[in-house]
Amino acid sequence: MKNDRLTRTEAGEKFQQILENQLARVEDLKNAPGWIDYGQLSPLKIGIIGGDGIGPIIGREARRVLEEILTDEVKSGRVEFRDIEGLTIENRAAAGEAIPEEILEEIKECPVILKGPTATPRKGDPWPNIESANVAMRKALDLFANVRPVRVPELGIEWTFFRENTEGAYVLGSEGFTVGEDLAIDFKVITRPGAERIIRLAFEFARKNGIGRVTAVTKANVIKTTDGLFLDTFSEIAGEYPEIDADDWYIDIMTAKLLDPQRRTGFKVFVLPNLYGDILTDEAAQLQGGVGTAGSANIGRRYAMFEAIHGSAPRMIEEGRGKYADPFSMIRAAAMLLGHIGYGEKAKKLELALDVCGSREKKLTVTGRPGGATTAEIADYLVETMADPDLEEKWETPAKG
Ligand code: IPM
Ligand code: MG
Repeated sequence: MKNDRLTRTEAGEKFQQILENQLARVEDLKNAPGWIDYGQLSPLKIGIIGGDGIGPIIGREARRVLEEILTDEVKSGRVEFRDIEGLTIENRAAAGEAIPEEILEEIKECPVILKGPTATPRKGDPWPNIESANVAMRKALDLFANVRPVRVPELGIEWTFFRENTEGAYVLGSEGFTVGEDLAIDFKVITRPGAERIIRLAFEFARKNGIGRVTAVTKANVIKTTDGLFLDTFSEIAGEYPEIDADDWYIDIMTAKLLDPQRRTGFKVFVLPNLYGDILTDEAAQLQGGVGTAGSANIGRRYAMFEAIHGSAPRMIEEGRGKYADPFSMIRAAAMLLGHIGYGEKAKKLELALDVCGSREKKLTVTGRPGGATTAEIADYLVETMADPDLEEKWETPAKG
């Protein structure tokens, strides 16, 4: 579809179709189901998706770490792990679908998913230019909130980003079209219920954690209609949280403020449309040590998916270096998963072990090459560190720079 050249009439019809679909989506949003209660599920199924490239390697180790932490729960049948195989670029290309139907069915059996990186095709790749599996999964499971924490204690940075995950520039990202030779059109969509639910989640998070500030980021001075709706919705909802300061910034100056040591520590919780969230969270993660150090939670009312936010590193596989892949980002995502399904203490312990092994003690170094630690060795190190009965006592003091 992407490279088809439409006539004026065809383009009009196509737009009409898009409009109908989006209006139907608004109705669905208004009738959205309630939040899932993990406590009611037995067993609670956790799906592990390896994905492409180094994904299956880091996925296997992340699963092992999780299984170790949830040994009792697995034994008692409260939690069950499922490997979901086959979400590979080869299969997706062969099916011509971002997520082949039978794999989506399998995924839907698991309310909680831990996902490795999946290759995102682009024009010129050997693959058909199908939609990204991440984007498709976020849409298919209605994972509307992309929650990305970034912490750099020594710089006083403690941010939580609430990136809208199902609308904005992404929702029709694979449905733009070319009219004749010279006109290319893409769309950006914001809906009132879509904006409301992400903004409310950000304010609820701030309230629950005693955080006194929520910041919206848009470009409403230029993208007036969609970002305008997002910002108006933000102001309305802010009124329901009088104890929280609500301010708004434009995306361009915000990218600068994240680099301003005087100002950046004042920000705490951000809420922003999809593409701005995509960009700003990479910048933020870089301050923490790079995108490989960050985990990402994709939260919806019925499903939640946790993922590494780096790519599938095909070059590492081509060069036979897969077994040296760094599993930290995926295991960080696993820690977020634990917290989300109600194992807050276990999540904290894993986070601490990740900090100890990744930067504070750092007995092993990941280089991605022979000579560096292997993925399995890193996982062993994490498991051993967590088993240390004095872990908390030894490391509870704040991290040094
Ligand atoms: C992310 C990634 C994805 C996105 C890509 C892989 C489609 O950059 O999770 O931030 O743009 O959302
Ligand atoms: Mg991104």
